[in-house]
Amino acid sequence: MTIDVAGLYERIEELAGVGRVPGVGLWRRPLTPAEAEAVRRVSAWMVAAGLEVRRDDAGNLFGRVGPAGPRVLVGSHLDSVKNGGAYDGVLGVLGPLAALDALRRQHGEPRRAVEIVAWTGEEGDRYPGFVGSRAFCGLLGAEDLDRRDEDGVPLRDALAAAGFDPAALPTEPPRDVTAYLELHIEQGRVLESRRRSVGVVEAIVGLRQFTLTVSGRADHAGTTPMDLRHDALRTAAEIVLAASRRVERAGAPAVLTCGRIEARPGAVNVVAAEARLTLDLRDADGPRLGSLAAEIESEARGLAARAGCALAWSTYHDTPPVRCDASLVELIERQGTALGMEPLRMVSGAGHDAQILAGIAPAAMLFVPSQDGRSHCPEEYTSPAMAGPGLAVLAASLRALAW
Ligand code: GLV
Ligand code: MN
Ligand code: MN
Repeated sequence: MTIDVAGLYERIEELAGVGRVPGVGLWRRPLTPAEAEAVRRVSAWMVAAGLEVRRDDAGNLFGRVGPAGPRVLVGSHLDSVKNGGAYDGVLGVLGPLAALDALRRQHGEPRRAVEIVAWTGEEGDRYPGFVGSRAFCGLLGAEDLDRRDEDGVPLRDALAAAGFDPAALPTEPPRDVTAYLELHIEQGRVLESRRRSVGVVEAIVGLRQFTLTVSGRADHAGTTPMDLRHDALRTAAEIVLAASRRVERAGAPAVLTCGRIEARPGAVNVVAAEARLTLDLRDADGPRLGSLAAEIESEARGLAARAGCALAWSTYHDTPPVRCDASLVELIERQGTALGMEPLRMVSGAGHDAQILAGIAPAAMLFVPSQDGRSHCPEEYTSPAMAGPGLAVLAASLRALAW
């Protein structure tokens, strides 16, 4: 089967220019003009390919071929992290479009509908992640719609401002999805270091993200003895180190990241009165993830109390680990083997919409290698030659499921 990989890469490069923020890099936040522009271009490519295109009330974009009735869903997302890369999510939307095109040219129309989807707001920037996939599965409730971004805009208002109707979001999952596939860059070094061209994801880690505010007291940096301070920033630093060490002791695949910390008032000669920070904790084992989170919170509370600081701890996002569907994993693996590859079974340390879809349909993922394992940064890269085998396995899997 001949997939137009060169054409696919022209489109990936075009989208890489959509949502460039001066001084930041690529930053396509959900429900912003940048994301809308990316969706507009992908939607036009879907129309040109002869797909039946629609949006739902979460802003998800769908492009469908085939008869009425049950559908195979395949996709990923178009939003990006701050200073992100060009392949995360995008390959999983445009790759299936290229694969579908090749399949239809060579085998005609599918016997079962295939629908490509671009989910809104996967990354968790602006609002907690998986906005579109959670909405699609009937999981976006009033509490989620009330969540506010940094500017105080609730998700329901952001959806309405973008032209969608949050009151019309489904409260039940759809029952007509027979399988969900997601193609993604690996975002790590495993495939490259083991010289494997394709990964098949067996499980996706659970994710807990927290926002913390440590409140202390602003004081003079020169005149306040060390033992008389209520230093919010120092306490935040102690919390980050203690949490990191706890997770190191737990061992892989548990990981902890503090990706954002801000101190106020933020002056060179003032003890910080307040520190706000985020923690991102992941593990493949649900109970262990829960107990790590509880231990980290309790240690953080102890550290804050010892420093005479107050600690506000809130959960930003909580998604449990999932296992992918065993027969879908085998189906993908078989296609790879039949094409002469040696697909590698893997656990995804990154979060994906597939972990939400796994709750309503058999779901599985394919990984292609990431150069140097880089991702969530501008250096993120997967060459056409690195993507080709995964695209071929994706096309063969779609063929097995829908033709
Ligand atoms: C999404 O890319 C995540 O794993 O944070
Ligand atoms: Mn992604
Ligand atoms: Mn990402």
